Amino acid sequence: MSAKGYNHDPLNDGGTAPPLAGATPQSSLRSDGPTRVGSAPPNPLFATAARGTEGALRDELRELRFRGVRADRGGVHFAGGLDEAARACLELRTAIRVLKKLSSFESPTGDALYEGASAIDWSPYLTASHTLAVRAVCQDSALTHSQFVAQRTKDAVVDQLRTKLGGARPSVDLDDPDVVLFVHVRKNQATVYLDVGGGSLHKRGYRANALEAPLKETLAAAILRLSGWDRERPLVDPMCGSGTIPIEAALWARDIAPGLLRDGFGYERWACHDDEARKLTKELREEARARIRPGAPPIIGSDIDPEALSIARENARLAGVSLVWRRAHVRDLAPTDPPGVVVTNPPYGERLEGSDDLYRDMARAFGRLAGHRIALIAGSPAIVRPIPWKPETALAIHNGDIECRLLTYEVHGRRAAEGRDGRR
Ligand SMILES: C[S@@+](CC[C@H](N)C(=O)[O-])C[C@H]1O[C@@H](n2cnc3c(N)ncnc32)[C@H](O)[C@@H]1O
Repeated sequence: MSAKGYNHDPLNDGGTAPPLAGATPQSSLRSDGPTRVGSAPPNPLFATAARGTEGALRDELRELRFRGVRADRGGVHFAGGLDEAARACLELRTAIRVLKKLSSFESPTGDALYEGASAIDWSPYLTASHTLAVRAVCQDSALTHSQFVAQRTKDAVVDQLRTKLGGARPSVDLDDPDVVLFVHVRKNQATVYLDVGGGSLHKRGYRANALEAPLKETLAAAILRLSGWDRERPLVDPMCGSGTIPIEAALWARDIAPGLLRDGFGYERWACHDDEARKLTKELREEARARIRPGAPPIIGSDIDPEALSIARENARLAGVSLVWRRAHVRDLAPTDPPGVVVTNPPYGERLEGSDDLYRDMARAFGRLAGHRIALIAGSPAIVRPIPWKPETALAIHNGDIECRLLTYEVHGRRAAEGRDGRR
C-alpha cells in the first residue's frame, strides 16, 4: 500500500466524522472502511490525548494527512478505514489510544445499553477462542457505575456470539485481551468503541525500567511539539530522568514511527485480521522504515542521578537511537552552539526532592542561555517563581491526574543575565 494509496481528501480536512448508525464491520482490514474518496463514507475514528495536548495531536493528524480532523475535549476526531486506523497506531506520537466508533445510542438503563450493544455485529472481531476486555467511563448519566456498564456490554457481546456460534463463547481476559472495547456513557448516550491499538500507545516498547515519575512517552512527544522545537536546533533536557524527552525527540527528529518499536497492535488479533490485512500491515511498516532519516541534531540528556542515566542509556539503546548522556547538576547547564531548546520536567514535591534552591539554580542556569528557547512542564508554581521573565506561552496540561503548566520562554541576551533576586 503506497502512501498515495490512502487518497486523502484535503478538502475534507477539518470536517466532522460522520455519525455511524450501528456497526459496519467487514471481513478484512481494507474493506472495513473506505480508503478511496468517492466510495462509502469513512468510519469515525477518535484518537485520545492528554488533556491540554489535543492541539498537538490535531496538528500531527493533519501533518500525516488524515481526513476529517477535528479537535475535541480529550482527543481528536478523524475518519478513515481500518487501514488508516492502523496507520494512526503506527505513526501517531501524541495519541494515547486510537478508537474506532462502532455505535452510539441512548442508554438511560442497563437494558437499553444491553440492547444497543447487542445491535452491533460482533462476529468480525471475536470468535469463541478470542478473549475480551471492556473498559467504561460514565459521566452525567443515570448509569453511574462504570463496572456495571462494562459488565452489561460484555454480556451483550458474549450472548450474541454464544447464539451465533452454537453455544461456544469468547471469554474475558483483563490482562492481555485480544479485543478491547471502550464504552463512554455521557448524558445517557452510550458510545461503543473498539480500541484499535489494543491498549495505551505510550507503551512504545523501549522502556526497560522507569524511575519514580517518568513522563508518558505520548505526553513527552506532545510537549516536544508544543515547545516550538524545529527538529534542527540542538535539544537539551538537563533533568532527563529515564530519558523520555530526549528519546522521543530523537525518534521524532529521525522520523522513526513510534509503533515500529512495538510487537504489534490490538487490531492484529481481531478475527477479521486476514492475510490481506497482514500484508497491508507489513507494507505500512516497510513504508515507515524506508522513511527513517539517518541523522538528528545534537540531543543531550543530563541528570544528577547516575541510576537515572543508566536507565536512560538502556532505554535509548532499546529505542535504537544514540544520544549524548551526561551526569550533571542543572546549575552546570551550558549553552549549546548554535543556541538550542531546553525541554525539561523538573522534580517537584517532597517525594521527588524538588526544592526552592534547585529552582533558583535552574533559573540562574537558564539566565546564561541567551538565544535559547526553554519549555518547562511545571507541576508546581514554585518551579517557575525564580524565573524573571514572562512566559511566551502557558498551557494547562494534564500529566496523569496532575494539572501542570507547560511554559515556554525565549531567553533574550540583555535580560538573560538578570535574576529575580538580583544575583548573577
Ligand atoms: C520528574 S523527574 C524527570 C522524569 C523524566 N522526564 C522521565 O521521563 O523519566 C526529575 C529528574 O530531575 C533530576 N534532578 C533532581 N535534582 C537535580 C539537579 N539538581 N540537577 C539535575 N537533575 C536533577 C532527578 O534525578 C530526576 O531524574
